[in-house]
Amino acid sequence: MRAGAEPRHREILPSLYQVPGGRVLPGRPLDALPASTLSARRAPSTLRGMSTRIVVLGPSAHEQAAALAAARPDVEFYPVADVARGPLPASADAVFGWGVPPELFNRVSNIRWVQWWAAGVERALSLPESVLLTRMEDVFTPDMAEHVLGCLLDWVKNFDQARRQQAEHVWARYDTASLHGQVLVVAGAGRIGGGMADRLEALGVVVRRLARTHRVRPDGSVVYGHDESEAALLGANGVILVLPHTPETIGFLNAARIGQMAPGAVVVNVGRGSAVDEEALMAALASGQLSRAYLDVARHEPLPADSPLWDAPGVRITPHVSGPNRHDDVLAYSLENLARWERGEPLRGVVDRQRGY
Ligand SMILES: NC(=O)c1ccc[n+]([C@@H]2O[C@H](COP(=O)([O-])OP(=O)(O)OC[C@H]3O[C@@H](n4cnc5c(N)ncnc54)[C@H](OP(=O)(O)O)[C@@H]3O)[C@@H](O)[C@H]2O)c1
Repeated sequence: MRAGAEPRHREILPSLYQVPGGRVLPGRPLDALPASTLSARRAPSTLRGMSTRIVVLGPSAHEQAAALAAARPDVEFYPVADVARGPLPASADAVFGWGVPPELFNRVSNIRWVQWWAAGVERALSLPESVLLTRMEDVFTPDMAEHVLGCLLDWVKNFDQARRQQAEHVWARYDTASLHGQVLVVAGAGRIGGGMADRLEALGVVVRRLARTHRVRPDGSVVYGHDESEAALLGANGVILVLPHTPETIGFLNAARIGQMAPGAVVVNVGRGSAVDEEALMAALASGQLSRAYLDVARHEPLPADSPLWDAPGVRITPHVSGPNRHDDVLAYSLENLARWERGEPLRGVVDRQRGY
Protein backbone atom coordinates (compact mmCIF):
# COMPACT_ATOMS: atom_id res chain seq x y z
CA MET A 1 0.00 0.00 0.00
CA ARG A 2 1.24 3.50 -0.78
CA ALA A 3 2.30 5.61 2.16
CA GLY A 4 -0.66 7.63 3.36
CA ALA A 5 -3.32 5.34 1.92
CA GLU A 6 -4.05 3.52 5.15
CA PRO A 7 -5.29 6.54 7.12
CA ARG A 8 -7.70 7.36 4.32
CA HIS A 9 -9.19 3.87 4.49
CA ARG A 10 -9.39 3.97 8.27
CA GLU A 11 -11.21 7.31 8.23
CA ILE A 12 -14.03 5.85 6.20
CA LEU A 13 -14.32 2.67 8.22
CA PRO A 14 -16.76 3.81 10.92
CA SER A 15 -19.47 4.44 8.34
CA LEU A 16 -18.96 1.16 6.56
CA TYR A 17 -20.06 -1.49 9.00
CA GLN A 18 -23.50 -2.72 9.67
CA VAL A 19 -24.71 -5.66 11.65
CA PRO A 20 -27.81 -7.47 10.44
CA GLY A 21 -30.71 -5.22 11.31
CA GLY A 22 -28.94 -2.12 10.10
CA ARG A 23 -27.17 -0.98 13.27
CA VAL A 24 -23.94 0.80 12.47
CA LEU A 25 -20.97 -0.16 14.58
CA PRO A 26 -19.04 3.07 14.99
CA GLY A 27 -15.28 2.86 14.78
CA ARG A 28 -14.78 -0.72 15.91
CA PRO A 29 -11.37 -2.14 15.08
CA LEU A 30 -11.46 -4.29 11.97
CA ASP A 31 -10.26 -7.47 13.60
CA ALA A 32 -13.00 -7.27 16.22
CA LEU A 33 -15.66 -7.59 13.54
CA PRO A 34 -16.84 -11.04 12.49
CA ALA A 35 -16.35 -11.30 8.73
CA SER A 36 -20.00 -12.17 8.22
CA THR A 37 -21.08 -8.75 9.49
CA LEU A 38 -18.81 -6.76 7.18
CA SER A 39 -20.81 -5.41 4.32
CA ALA A 40 -21.15 -2.12 2.57
CA ARG A 41 -24.07 0.04 3.69
CA ARG A 42 -26.77 -0.30 1.09
CA ALA A 43 -30.05 1.43 0.45
CA PRO A 44 -32.71 -0.11 2.73
CA SER A 45 -34.68 -1.17 -0.33
CA THR A 46 -31.81 -3.26 -1.66
CA LEU A 47 -32.71 -6.89 -1.17
CA ARG A 48 -29.99 -9.30 -0.06
CA GLY A 49 -29.15 -11.57 -2.99
CA MET A 50 -29.88 -8.95 -5.64
CA SER A 51 -26.75 -6.89 -5.23
CA THR A 52 -23.43 -8.20 -6.48
CA ARG A 53 -21.52 -10.11 -3.81
CA ILE A 54 -17.76 -10.42 -4.08
CA VAL A 55 -15.51 -12.48 -1.85
CA VAL A 56 -12.28 -10.63 -1.06
CA LEU A 57 -9.59 -13.14 -0.18
CA GLY A 58 -6.27 -12.79 1.59
CA PRO A 59 -4.53 -11.75 4.80
CA SER A 60 -5.57 -8.07 4.35
CA ALA A 61 -9.10 -8.95 3.18
CA HIS A 62 -10.91 -6.89 5.82
CA GLU A 63 -9.02 -3.72 5.04
CA GLN A 64 -9.28 -4.25 1.28
CA ALA A 65 -12.99 -5.06 1.45
CA ALA A 66 -13.56 -1.87 3.42
CA ALA A 67 -11.69 0.21 0.85
CA LEU A 68 -13.63 -1.42 -1.99
CA ALA A 69 -16.93 -0.89 -0.20
CA ALA A 70 -16.13 2.79 0.25
CA ALA A 71 -15.81 3.13 -3.52
CA ARG A 72 -18.79 0.88 -4.31
CA PRO A 73 -21.32 0.96 -1.47
CA ASP A 74 -23.89 -0.77 -3.71
CA VAL A 75 -21.76 -3.93 -3.87
CA GLU A 76 -21.35 -6.41 -1.03
CA PHE A 77 -17.70 -7.24 -0.40
CA TYR A 78 -17.26 -10.27 1.83
CA PRO A 79 -13.78 -10.50 3.38
CA VAL A 80 -12.25 -13.93 3.93
CA ALA A 81 -8.82 -13.97 5.51
CA ASP A 82 -8.48 -17.76 5.40
CA VAL A 83 -10.73 -20.10 3.40
CA ALA A 84 -10.03 -23.05 5.72
CA ARG A 85 -11.16 -21.11 8.78
CA GLY A 86 -14.00 -19.16 7.16
CA PRO A 87 -16.68 -17.97 7.66
CA LEU A 88 -17.74 -18.16 4.02
CA PRO A 89 -20.87 -16.91 2.30
CA ALA A 90 -23.17 -19.56 0.77
CA SER A 91 -22.91 -17.92 -2.63
CA ALA A 92 -21.04 -15.14 -4.39
CA ASP A 93 -20.74 -13.71 -7.89
CA ALA A 94 -16.98 -13.17 -7.98
CA VAL A 95 -13.74 -13.48 -6.04
CA PHE A 96 -10.96 -10.91 -5.77
CA GLY A 97 -7.66 -12.22 -4.45
CA TRP A 98 -4.52 -14.18 -4.94
CA GLY A 99 -3.98 -17.82 -4.03
CA VAL A 100 -7.69 -18.65 -4.48
CA PRO A 101 -7.95 -22.38 -3.61
CA PRO A 102 -10.11 -24.68 -5.79
CA GLU A 103 -11.93 -25.86 -2.64
CA LEU A 104 -13.56 -22.44 -2.40
CA PHE A 105 -15.76 -23.44 -5.34
CA ASN A 106 -17.09 -26.49 -3.47
CA ARG A 107 -18.10 -24.34 -0.52
CA VAL A 108 -19.33 -21.14 -2.21
CA SER A 109 -21.79 -21.53 -5.07
CA ASN A 110 -22.38 -19.39 -8.17
CA ILE A 111 -18.88 -17.89 -8.54
CA ARG A 112 -18.55 -16.77 -12.16
CA TRP A 113 -15.44 -14.59 -12.15
CA VAL A 114 -12.06 -14.57 -10.39
CA GLN A 115 -9.93 -11.42 -10.45
CA TRP A 116 -6.47 -12.85 -9.64
CA TRP A 117 -4.33 -10.28 -7.87
CA ALA A 118 -1.09 -11.17 -9.67
CA ALA A 119 0.25 -11.22 -13.24
CA GLY A 120 1.44 -14.83 -13.18
CA VAL A 121 -1.45 -17.29 -13.10
CA GLU A 122 0.10 -20.76 -13.00
CA ARG A 123 -1.52 -21.38 -9.60
CA ALA A 124 -4.92 -20.27 -10.90
CA LEU A 125 -5.11 -22.75 -13.75
CA SER A 126 -6.57 -25.47 -11.48
CA LEU A 127 -9.68 -23.35 -10.81
CA PRO A 128 -12.90 -24.52 -12.55
CA GLU A 129 -12.75 -23.86 -16.29
CA SER A 130 -16.27 -22.43 -16.31
CA VAL A 131 -15.05 -19.47 -14.26
CA LEU A 132 -13.79 -16.36 -16.06
CA LEU A 133 -10.22 -15.73 -14.93
CA THR A 134 -8.59 -12.31 -15.16
CA ARG A 135 -5.09 -11.36 -14.03
CA MET A 136 -3.28 -8.08 -13.36
CA GLU A 137 -2.10 -6.65 -16.67
CA ASP A 138 0.31 -3.72 -17.17
CA VAL A 139 0.20 -2.72 -13.48
CA PHE A 140 3.72 -3.98 -12.75
CA THR A 141 5.47 -2.74 -15.88
CA PRO A 142 7.00 0.54 -14.56
CA ASP A 143 8.34 -1.03 -11.36
CA MET A 144 9.72 -4.08 -13.09
CA ALA A 145 11.34 -2.07 -15.86
CA GLU A 146 13.01 0.11 -13.23
CA HIS A 147 14.18 -2.95 -11.31
CA VAL A 148 15.75 -4.43 -14.45
CA LEU A 149 17.32 -1.10 -15.32
CA GLY A 150 18.79 -0.93 -11.81
CA CYS A 151 20.33 -4.39 -12.24
CA LEU A 152 21.76 -3.56 -15.65
CA LEU A 153 23.23 -0.25 -14.47
CA ASP A 154 24.74 -2.00 -11.47
CA TRP A 155 26.33 -4.44 -13.93
CA VAL A 156 27.84 -1.93 -16.37
CA LYS A 157 28.70 0.80 -13.87
CA ASN A 158 30.50 -1.54 -11.47
CA PHE A 159 28.95 -0.13 -8.31
CA ASP A 160 30.27 -3.19 -6.40
CA GLN A 161 33.79 -1.85 -6.92
CA ALA A 162 32.81 1.60 -5.64
CA ARG A 163 31.30 0.11 -2.46
CA ARG A 164 34.38 -2.03 -1.84
CA GLN A 165 36.68 0.96 -2.29
CA GLN A 166 34.56 3.23 -0.12
CA ALA A 167 34.65 0.67 2.70
CA GLU A 168 38.44 0.83 2.49
CA HIS A 169 38.58 4.64 1.92
CA VAL A 170 40.30 4.10 -1.41
CA TRP A 171 40.04 6.71 -4.20
CA ALA A 172 41.09 4.84 -7.34
CA ARG A 173 39.57 5.08 -10.80
CA TYR A 174 38.16 1.90 -12.31
CA ASP A 175 36.66 0.91 -15.66
CA THR A 176 32.96 1.03 -16.41
CA ALA A 177 30.91 0.15 -19.48
CA SER A 178 27.73 1.56 -21.05
CA LEU A 179 24.38 0.00 -21.80
CA HIS A 180 24.39 1.96 -25.06
CA GLY A 181 25.08 -0.49 -27.89
CA GLN A 182 24.74 -3.67 -25.78
CA VAL A 183 22.71 -6.43 -27.40
CA LEU A 184 20.15 -7.71 -24.90
CA VAL A 185 17.42 -10.30 -25.39
CA VAL A 186 14.09 -9.74 -23.65
CA ALA A 187 12.65 -13.25 -23.36
CA GLY A 188 8.93 -12.91 -22.70
CA ALA A 189 8.26 -9.74 -24.67
CA GLY A 190 4.67 -9.42 -23.47
CA ARG A 191 3.09 -6.66 -21.41
CA ILE A 192 5.94 -6.30 -18.95
CA GLY A 193 8.79 -7.40 -21.19
CA GLY A 194 7.58 -5.16 -24.01
CA GLY A 195 7.54 -2.15 -21.69
CA MET A 196 11.07 -2.97 -20.58
CA ALA A 197 12.24 -3.35 -24.16
CA ASP A 198 10.89 0.10 -25.05
CA ARG A 199 12.72 1.72 -22.14
CA LEU A 200 15.99 -0.08 -22.92
CA GLU A 201 15.81 0.98 -26.56
CA ALA A 202 15.45 4.58 -25.41
CA LEU A 203 18.87 4.15 -23.74
CA GLY A 204 20.47 2.89 -26.94
CA VAL A 205 20.34 -0.83 -26.14
CA VAL A 206 19.96 -3.12 -29.16
CA VAL A 207 16.98 -5.18 -28.01
CA ARG A 208 15.99 -8.55 -29.42
CA ARG A 209 12.43 -9.37 -28.41
CA LEU A 210 11.59 -13.03 -27.92
CA ALA A 211 8.05 -14.34 -27.45
CA ARG A 212 6.23 -17.63 -27.93
CA THR A 213 5.03 -16.68 -31.39
CA HIS A 214 7.10 -15.12 -34.18
CA ARG A 215 5.72 -11.86 -35.51
CA VAL A 216 6.67 -8.63 -37.23
CA ARG A 217 6.02 -5.40 -35.34
CA PRO A 218 4.43 -2.35 -36.98
CA ASP A 219 7.90 -0.73 -37.26
CA GLY A 220 9.11 -3.75 -39.27
CA SER A 221 11.27 -5.22 -36.49
CA VAL A 222 10.97 -8.92 -35.72
CA VAL A 223 9.81 -10.60 -32.54
CA TYR A 224 11.62 -13.93 -32.41
CA GLY A 225 9.43 -16.97 -31.71
CA HIS A 226 10.22 -19.69 -29.15
CA ASP A 227 11.66 -21.90 -31.92
CA GLU A 228 14.14 -19.14 -32.73
CA SER A 229 15.43 -18.78 -29.16
CA GLU A 230 18.99 -19.86 -30.08
CA ALA A 231 19.15 -17.35 -32.92
CA ALA A 232 17.87 -14.59 -30.65
CA LEU A 233 20.51 -15.36 -28.01
CA LEU A 234 23.42 -15.79 -30.44
CA GLY A 235 26.20 -13.36 -29.52
CA ALA A 236 23.98 -11.37 -27.16
CA ASN A 237 25.50 -9.57 -24.18
CA GLY A 238 22.70 -10.70 -21.93
CA VAL A 239 19.15 -11.89 -21.48
CA ILE A 240 16.28 -10.55 -19.40
CA LEU A 241 13.76 -13.24 -18.54
CA VAL A 242 10.14 -12.16 -18.10
CA LEU A 243 8.62 -15.52 -18.96
CA PRO A 244 5.44 -16.97 -17.48
CA HIS A 245 5.64 -20.43 -15.90
CA THR A 246 4.42 -22.93 -18.53
CA PRO A 247 5.53 -26.45 -19.49
CA GLU A 248 7.48 -24.88 -22.39
CA THR A 249 9.34 -22.29 -20.31
CA ILE A 250 10.56 -24.66 -17.57
CA GLY A 251 14.36 -24.79 -17.82
CA PHE A 252 14.34 -22.34 -20.75
CA LEU A 253 17.76 -20.91 -19.88
CA ASN A 254 19.86 -24.08 -19.98
CA ALA A 255 23.56 -24.65 -20.65
CA ALA A 256 23.10 -24.76 -24.42
CA ARG A 257 21.25 -21.45 -24.56
CA ILE A 258 23.65 -19.77 -22.13
CA GLY A 259 26.43 -20.95 -24.44
CA GLN A 260 24.89 -19.06 -27.38
CA MET A 261 25.58 -15.72 -25.72
CA ALA A 262 28.81 -13.72 -25.79
CA PRO A 263 31.35 -14.54 -23.06
CA GLY A 264 30.71 -12.49 -19.90
CA ALA A 265 27.00 -12.07 -20.59
CA VAL A 266 24.51 -11.01 -17.93
CA VAL A 267 21.26 -12.71 -16.89
CA VAL A 268 18.35 -10.93 -15.21
CA ASN A 269 15.38 -13.06 -14.18
CA VAL A 270 12.20 -11.31 -13.04
CA GLY A 271 9.70 -13.77 -14.54
CA ARG A 272 9.59 -17.14 -12.81
CA GLY A 273 12.43 -19.12 -11.23
CA SER A 274 11.46 -22.25 -13.15
CA ALA A 275 12.76 -20.67 -16.39
CA VAL A 276 16.39 -21.05 -15.28
CA ASP A 277 18.46 -24.21 -14.95
CA GLU A 278 20.12 -23.03 -11.74
CA GLU A 279 22.95 -25.59 -11.88
CA ALA A 280 23.83 -24.59 -15.45
CA LEU A 281 23.69 -20.94 -14.43
CA MET A 282 26.13 -21.42 -11.54
CA ALA A 283 28.49 -23.46 -13.76
CA ALA A 284 28.46 -20.69 -16.39
CA LEU A 285 29.21 -18.05 -13.75
CA ALA A 286 32.09 -20.14 -12.42
CA SER A 287 33.57 -20.55 -15.90
CA GLY A 288 33.17 -16.88 -16.83
CA GLN A 289 30.69 -17.61 -19.64
CA LEU A 290 28.35 -15.43 -17.57
CA SER A 291 29.61 -12.46 -15.57
CA ARG A 292 26.57 -11.72 -13.45
CA ALA A 293 23.09 -13.07 -12.69
CA TYR A 294 20.42 -10.94 -11.06
CA LEU A 295 17.71 -13.21 -9.72
CA ASP A 296 14.46 -11.78 -8.36
CA VAL A 297 12.80 -15.18 -8.58
CA ALA A 298 14.01 -18.69 -7.80
CA ARG A 299 12.94 -22.25 -8.59
CA HIS A 300 12.00 -22.70 -4.91
CA GLU A 301 10.68 -19.66 -3.06
CA PRO A 302 11.55 -18.62 -0.46
CA LEU A 303 15.07 -19.53 -1.54
CA PRO A 304 16.26 -22.11 1.04
CA ALA A 305 18.98 -20.84 3.37
CA ASP A 306 21.28 -23.66 2.22
CA SER A 307 20.84 -22.95 -1.51
CA PRO A 308 24.24 -22.61 -3.21
CA LEU A 309 22.83 -19.64 -5.15
CA TRP A 310 23.28 -17.36 -2.11
CA ASP A 311 27.06 -17.62 -2.27
CA ALA A 312 27.62 -18.31 -5.97
CA PRO A 313 30.05 -15.76 -7.43
CA GLY A 314 28.29 -13.17 -9.54
CA VAL A 315 24.78 -13.93 -8.25
CA ARG A 316 22.74 -11.02 -6.93
CA ILE A 317 19.49 -12.00 -5.22
CA THR A 318 16.36 -9.98 -4.52
CA PRO A 319 13.38 -11.69 -2.83
CA HIS A 320 10.67 -11.40 -5.55
CA VAL A 321 10.27 -7.65 -5.12
CA SER A 322 10.58 -6.36 -8.69
CA GLY A 323 6.79 -6.14 -9.14
CA PRO A 324 5.32 -4.89 -5.85
CA ASN A 325 1.64 -5.64 -5.33
CA ARG A 326 0.39 -2.28 -4.05
CA HIS A 327 -3.08 -2.37 -2.54
CA ASP A 328 -4.23 0.87 -4.15
CA ASP A 329 -3.25 -0.28 -7.65
CA VAL A 330 -4.80 -3.70 -7.18
CA LEU A 331 -8.08 -2.28 -5.86
CA ALA A 332 -8.34 0.37 -8.59
CA TYR A 333 -7.71 -2.27 -11.27
CA SER A 334 -10.33 -4.57 -9.73
CA LEU A 335 -12.93 -1.80 -9.54
CA GLU A 336 -12.33 -0.91 -13.18
CA ASN A 337 -12.81 -4.53 -14.20
CA LEU A 338 -15.93 -4.76 -12.03
CA ALA A 339 -17.42 -1.77 -13.84
CA ARG A 340 -16.62 -3.41 -17.18
CA TRP A 341 -18.18 -6.68 -16.00
CA GLU A 342 -21.36 -4.89 -14.98
CA ARG A 343 -21.56 -3.13 -18.34
CA GLY A 344 -20.95 -6.40 -20.19
CA GLU A 345 -17.71 -5.09 -21.70
CA PRO A 346 -14.50 -7.11 -22.24
CA LEU A 347 -12.42 -7.30 -19.07
CA ARG A 348 -8.74 -6.44 -18.78
CA GLY A 349 -6.30 -9.32 -18.38
CA VAL A 350 -8.47 -12.25 -19.47
CA VAL A 351 -6.35 -15.41 -19.12
CA ASP A 352 -6.13 -17.87 -21.99
CA ARG A 353 -6.23 -21.14 -20.06
CA GLN A 354 -5.12 -23.25 -23.06
CA ARG A 355 -1.98 -21.11 -23.45
CA GLY A 356 -1.47 -21.15 -19.69
CA TYR A 357 -0.79 -17.42 -19.20
N1 LIG B 1 8.92 -10.87 -10.14
C1 LIG B 1 7.75 -10.31 -10.00
O1 LIG B 1 7.50 -9.61 -9.00
C2 LIG B 1 6.72 -10.46 -11.10
C3 LIG B 1 5.65 -9.55 -11.15
C4 LIG B 1 4.74 -9.64 -12.20
C5 LIG B 1 4.89 -10.64 -13.17
N2 LIG B 1 5.93 -11.53 -13.06
C6 LIG B 1 6.09 -12.58 -14.10
O2 LIG B 1 6.16 -11.97 -15.38
C7 LIG B 1 5.44 -12.78 -16.30
C8 LIG B 1 5.05 -11.99 -17.52
O3 LIG B 1 3.99 -11.10 -17.19
P1 LIG B 1 3.28 -10.27 -18.37
O4 LIG B 1 2.19 -9.49 -17.74
O5 LIG B 1 4.26 -9.55 -19.22
O6 LIG B 1 2.68 -11.49 -19.21
P2 LIG B 1 2.27 -11.52 -20.77
O7 LIG B 1 1.83 -10.18 -21.23
O8 LIG B 1 1.34 -12.67 -20.93
O9 LIG B 1 3.64 -11.84 -21.52
C9 LIG B 1 4.21 -13.10 -21.51
C10 LIG B 1 5.16 -13.15 -22.67
O10 LIG B 1 5.87 -14.39 -22.59
C11 LIG B 1 5.89 -14.96 -23.90
N3 LIG B 1 6.04 -16.40 -23.83
C12 LIG B 1 5.16 -17.31 -23.35
N4 LIG B 1 5.66 -18.56 -23.52
C13 LIG B 1 6.87 -18.40 -24.13
C14 LIG B 1 7.86 -19.32 -24.59
N5 LIG B 1 7.67 -20.64 -24.46
N6 LIG B 1 8.97 -18.83 -25.16
C15 LIG B 1 9.14 -17.50 -25.32
N7 LIG B 1 8.24 -16.59 -24.91
C16 LIG B 1 7.13 -17.05 -24.32
C17 LIG B 1 4.57 -14.56 -24.50
O11 LIG B 1 4.61 -14.74 -25.91
P3 LIG B 1 3.38 -14.31 -26.89
O12 LIG B 1 3.47 -12.79 -26.96
O13 LIG B 1 3.71 -14.96 -28.18
O14 LIG B 1 2.13 -14.79 -26.24
C18 LIG B 1 4.47 -13.11 -24.04
O15 LIG B 1 5.17 -12.27 -24.92
C19 LIG B 1 4.28 -13.32 -15.46
O16 LIG B 1 3.76 -14.50 -16.02
C20 LIG B 1 4.92 -13.56 -14.12
O17 LIG B 1 5.41 -14.88 -14.10
C21 LIG B 1 6.83 -11.46 -12.06
